Amino acid sequence: MCGIFAVSLPGNEAGNLVLEGLKKLEYRGYDSWGVAIRQDSGEIILRKDVGKIKDVQIQFEMSGEAIGHTRWATHGGVTMANAHPHQVGKVTLVHNGIFENYLDVKSKYQDEGMGFRSDTDTEVIACMVNDFLEKGMSVAGAIRHSAEVIQGRFSLLVIAEGFPGIYAARRGSPLIIGRGETGTFIASDIPALLEHTNVVNYLDDDEMVHIEGNKAEFSSLISGDVIEKREVAVSWKAEQASKGDYQHFMIKEIFDQKKTLRDAIDHDDEKLHEAVELLQKSNGAYFVACGTAHKAAMCAEYYFAEISGRKINVVPASEMPSFERFINDKTAIIAVSQSGETADVLEILERGKKAGAKILALTNVESSSMARLADVHIPINAGPEKAVASTKATTAQMAILFLLAYADAGKLNLGREILSGTASAINDLINPRYENYVKDVAGKILNQKSLFIIGRGSLFPMALESAIKIQEVSYIHAQGFPAGELKHGPIALIEEGVPCLVLGDDQDTLSNAMEIKSRGAHIIGIAPKRAEVFDDWLKVPDCGQAQSIATIVPVQLLAYYLATFKGLDPDMPRNLAKSVTVK
Ligand code: G6P
Repeated sequence: MCGIFAVSLPGNEAGNLVLEGLKKLEYRGYDSWGVAIRQDSGEIILRKDVGKIKDVQIQFEMSGEAIGHTRWATHGGVTMANAHPHQVGKVTLVHNGIFENYLDVKSKYQDEGMGFRSDTDTEVIACMVNDFLEKGMSVAGAIRHSAEVIQGRFSLLVIAEGFPGIYAARRGSPLIIGRGETGTFIASDIPALLEHTNVVNYLDDDEMVHIEGNKAEFSSLISGDVIEKREVAVSWKAEQASKGDYQHFMIKEIFDQKKTLRDAIDHDDEKLHEAVELLQKSNGAYFVACGTAHKAAMCAEYYFAEISGRKINVVPASEMPSFERFINDKTAIIAVSQSGETADVLEILERGKKAGAKILALTNVESSSMARLADVHIPINAGPEKAVASTKATTAQMAILFLLAYADAGKLNLGREILSGTASAINDLINPRYENYVKDVAGKILNQKSLFIIGRGSLFPMALESAIKIQEVSYIHAQGFPAGELKHGPIALIEEGVPCLVLGDDQDTLSNAMEIKSRGAHIIGIAPKRAEVFDDWLKVPDCGQAQSIATIVPVQLLAYYLATFKGLDPDMPRNLAKSVTVK
């Protein structure tokens, strides 16, 4: 949610490097973009525009220092005036997060006669930092003083006229410092840094850094005291974060599942047992997640119930406040998140930790905030996922959760065996011939306004996940239901020709399919066996208890082809962002 990038290095390429860095972060927000560079004369100049940054082809003026931002709008519409960076007096600033009490501060400045050019909370921060600077504070002091006022999560980059170097501060939104040989980079996510370096420092909450060339000085955002930070080598490679020969990241990441499922389950037994022990010692466990990760957690609710007989509650993170009274030092909270930065989840974890709960986190970004906050962290090993619609991270999450259920049942080896078979079956499934079957089905339903998806058991959460996948990239209205529930209301929406994806071929689900077929629905079966009720059939391998993992793959392909046949960009669906770091 908003990508930010900064460069300080000898030479004159900083502006161009920031532009390239922002292009790699565009999945975090693509409403508008902007770059500020410090010219040799000392003047700081801005370039910004509304729309996506990926097609911007400009050469920046010569500069050794620049900061930039790609925006997912929160406060203020998508306009030039609201695009970052924001400049007030000597201060130029970009921001990711939300300054919750900005209106109070803004009106205080307005009373003093200050005019604002934008509707953003960010401009108010720039105004504060500049104000404190004018009152004689250092830049670091002005940022620290402003941070005392700000309620909410933020990460900031600040460049100030007359003060060399770039300042960055963090409270709740990610910032990573990339250490090059001659220069330093700052980004809100790792993929943007990989081309320059894989040696990083992770900025923690309430820390700031001043970078100049290859020097980085870290300090506390509270006391100003200097802090020593550890350098960490990142295992991801630049090629993993690029599209290669694929047209879109989404299709590349669907195909990556040929390998990622195997990588996901490649954890030593000790780690998995440590995670399971945390659950076994608890008296009450909650899965907390958002979006697609929440659907993976819902699937895991079935895995644990069926495989180890453990009841785990699943709550979307944003709904968790109603249940927080049940969280105490005997509770286990299991966070499932691709990014490890989703604000709603993080907030529950922070409060849960204070209440004494133990935290198990499954994240894809290894040194994410959730990973660092957790008592036990299991990386899902899917490699960088850049398409907004999650695919390979979802199946990796499901695979690890499946394995944990088997570990909980004391049958880890059997779990591995089943998943290894599932990984091979998915490897065989995804090929150009199979893609043609999916394209054929996509062609038939392309112009439909609405479609329904049904499933039973762990295929019910996959019906919900299928709906998300189809909605978010193809903009077709899609809704998932438990197969047996359709006749309790939604069946009223079935008319001649309305497509319905039927996940599974068990007798009860087929009977439900028949109920809607007899009212005119066009039935597309996604199942191991062809059934008579299916008008179209996408075969999936029979993976037993891991069927949910195999079943979602053809739906991901279907969503992708629905989007591309409609001429849409599946990697950057409208209104969405990959990493949601605001509530
Ligand atoms: C956004 C993304 C979804 C993702 C959700 C949770 O809505 O568009 O694809 O499932 O956030 O993100 P997380 O990083 O916590 O898995």
